[in-house]
Amino acid sequence: MIRSVVRGFGAALPKRVVTNRELEETVDTSDEWIVQRTGIKQRYIAGEGETTASLGEAAARAALDNAGLTPADIDLIIVATSTPDNTFPATAVNIQNRLGMTHGFAFDVQAVCTGFVYAVATADVYIRGGLAKRVLVIGAETFSRILDWTDRTTCVLFGDGAGALILEAAEGEGTTDDRGVLTASLRSDGSHKDKLYVDGGPSTTGTVGQLRMEGREVFKHAVGMITDVIDAAFAATGTTAEQLDWLVPHQANRRIIEGSAKKLSIPMDKVVMTVDQHGNTSAASIPLALAVAAGDGRIKKGDLVMLEAMGGGFTWGAVLLRW
Ligand code: UT7
Repeated sequence: MIRSVVRGFGAALPKRVVTNRELEETVDTSDEWIVQRTGIKQRYIAGEGETTASLGEAAARAALDNAGLTPADIDLIIVATSTPDNTFPATAVNIQNRLGMTHGFAFDVQAVCTGFVYAVATADVYIRGGLAKRVLVIGAETFSRILDWTDRTTCVLFGDGAGALILEAAEGEGTTDDRGVLTASLRSDGSHKDKLYVDGGPSTTGTVGQLRMEGREVFKHAVGMITDVIDAAFAATGTTAEQLDWLVPHQANRRIIEGSAKKLSIPMDKVVMTVDQHGNTSAASIPLALAVAAGDGRIKKGDLVMLEAMGGGFTWGAVLLRW
């Protein structure tokens, strides 16, 4: 059977680092509170000229280099983002143009923090369905542009960045020993839509709006939802937590990650944690974490890797793949 195998990875971050101490100067917060409640020590914030598309392009070029490929080898670009450069055209099409591609096709998926998990699952369906052979899957965000910088309950949590994976069609045996995407478990429940949302949009206010979150409410649901989809991915493949080499979670909060790992009996030395360095970069957080852990040699060819995320919608999901 056809599998969607990881061929390359890459990431890009804005130039400017903003520490918790710097935020102490603008809002009533402290480094101690932020570290204790979230694990975040710093985040990267996009400056002038840095946008979701420019960061996405840089991550895409890094992934192409890593794979030894050029844009001519790609036939589909999927970008997971909730902070597009424009309402339309899609950021994926913008990045396609920046890469000098006029062939193939490109579109965005919008599932907020779960966007990258949805995008990998979508790429896998296109590859297995024979509609694409090599897909550039990008998670790219500039949440700094939709934050209310006077709201200490949200502005300290988020950061900007982008990461990319190249998935390529390859023949597999149809077993869990195959490299590539093995299964995806995706969920959403719009009855929670008012717990994490942006208070504007083209069809309502005609403005971009700002992020609003009932953090405690999101927190309350996070661990249960995350562990449910991970358990579903294990059940669908007949694999177990003991067989997992790496859990690469969405990086929203150290406490949520630790709580999920504990509930699944996954030791923390098998969990990739970048929330301290990047903050919550929404759809970019998983591919950024993958680029860090694959880049430093922790994630190796053949490793069993679980990706998971939960966020606005609510949306949540997990992808199990063999690297
Ligand atoms: O990526 C998408 C999904 N999003 C998430 O996963 C986020 C989920 N939520 C969270 O991570 C946590 O709920 C937060 C980190 C947002 C908040 O942590 P918490 O432990 O749930 O704190 P809390 O909201 O219960 O607030 C505790 C206290 C409050 O003061 P009182 O009412 O106890 O006096 C807040 O006003 O902390 C206060 N507070 C702050 N203090 C200093 C809230 N934000 C800050 C801040 N600095 N930045």
